[in-house]
Amino acid sequence: MAASDDGTIDIRRKMREDWDRRARVDPRYWVAATAEADEASYLESAERDAASLLDGLRGRIGPEGRVLDLGCGIGRLSAQIAGRFAEVVGVDVSPAMIEAARALHAGRPGLRFEANSGNDLADFPTGSMDLVFSYSVLPHLPADVLESYFLEVGRVLRPGGWFRYQFWIGPPHDASTSDTLTIRVYDRATFDRLNAEAGLTVAEIDEIDYFDPVLQLKPVWVNATRTSTPARAVPELAARASAAAPEERELEYGLLLYLAVKHDERGDVGEAERVLEQCVALDPGRPEAYIQWSRHRLDQDDVEGGLKLLEALTDAVPDCAPGWLYRAQFAEAKGDKAAATAALDRLAALRPPEAELRKEAQAMRRRLRGGR
Ligand SMILES: C[S@@+](CC[C@H](N)C(=O)[O-])C[C@H]1O[C@@H](n2cnc3c(N)ncnc32)[C@H](O)[C@@H]1O
Repeated sequence: MAASDDGTIDIRRKMREDWDRRARVDPRYWVAATAEADEASYLESAERDAASLLDGLRGRIGPEGRVLDLGCGIGRLSAQIAGRFAEVVGVDVSPAMIEAARALHAGRPGLRFEANSGNDLADFPTGSMDLVFSYSVLPHLPADVLESYFLEVGRVLRPGGWFRYQFWIGPPHDASTSDTLTIRVYDRATFDRLNAEAGLTVAEIDEIDYFDPVLQLKPVWVNATRTSTPARAVPELAARASAAAPEERELEYGLLLYLAVKHDERGDVGEAERVLEQCVALDPGRPEAYIQWSRHRLDQDDVEGGLKLLEALTDAVPDCAPGWLYRAQFAEAKGDKAAATAALDRLAALRPPEAELRKEAQAMRRRLRGGR
């Protein structure tokens, strides 16, 4: 975990650990989060987003161009545009993403991938790049990390070079300073300041054809050109007081549950269970994944395995009434009447308000007593 002895967290380490964890579950899903969460929709997204990246450049970068992909993930976009430019380098805070990128695109000339610190571009000399681009990265960054990167992009671009990046501009939407997943929206004044301090002049803001139902907003592609030197050097990142970011965990958990459902729909039980295991590891205090996972075990005729999961659930969340009911049902299916009755007793003690749940529990109790 990213917390140090004094309880503060190192945000660079947290970003690395968070994205490594996501990469280990399913890098394609975590870089593109397509509705179908499969290979075909991943490739479709890569082609679509690379086309809008290139179209929006308006022919400003020629084949001799040196290009840097900031937060490249597994090279979804770098791989699409490699070959059009002399050099494309993808950098990412997550070594697991970089490892996957290298494995996926091994042997592609003019394309390489490097892990970086998470808030600077120290490996790249001043004025060495013609284009820096970044898609679906900057809005996930804590504000001070974002500022560092703007300054760094201003430094590594040659005079007249271009920064093309995806961003959200609108009524501000913030997140905890340790959150690495929630989308942040910046108001126009902050956006202008970020660019100005980095020595960048905004040339175009192109709307992206996607409406986010939660933010009630469309993201944009920004084209900014380097017109002066950055106003200051990259500042030290402040340690933050807490690693706890409940909204972030909730969002990640929800996205994982969605992925598990998609695997289910495709009949891939093994993958669904692997993802559900990650949900449980991420938040052992939430019941959904244990319950979904125990159903899988039942479908696989593994009552014992399902029961173990429900025991883990009711140990972790003792006031989860449905957990006790399912635990009683699994114990009954296993033929362990005493354990089933004990689980029903725990359920009754909770006095659950749901009439349906109480009715089912009563019916089971009658069954267990031998009545009908
Ligand atoms: C949603 S993915 C997008 C990946 C890629 N740009 C794409 O469009 O396929 C976000 C990526 O940003 C990377 N990332 C997050 N924080 C970062 C940071 N501080 N520095 C560099 N990369 C970062 C993550 O590891 C992840 O690969």
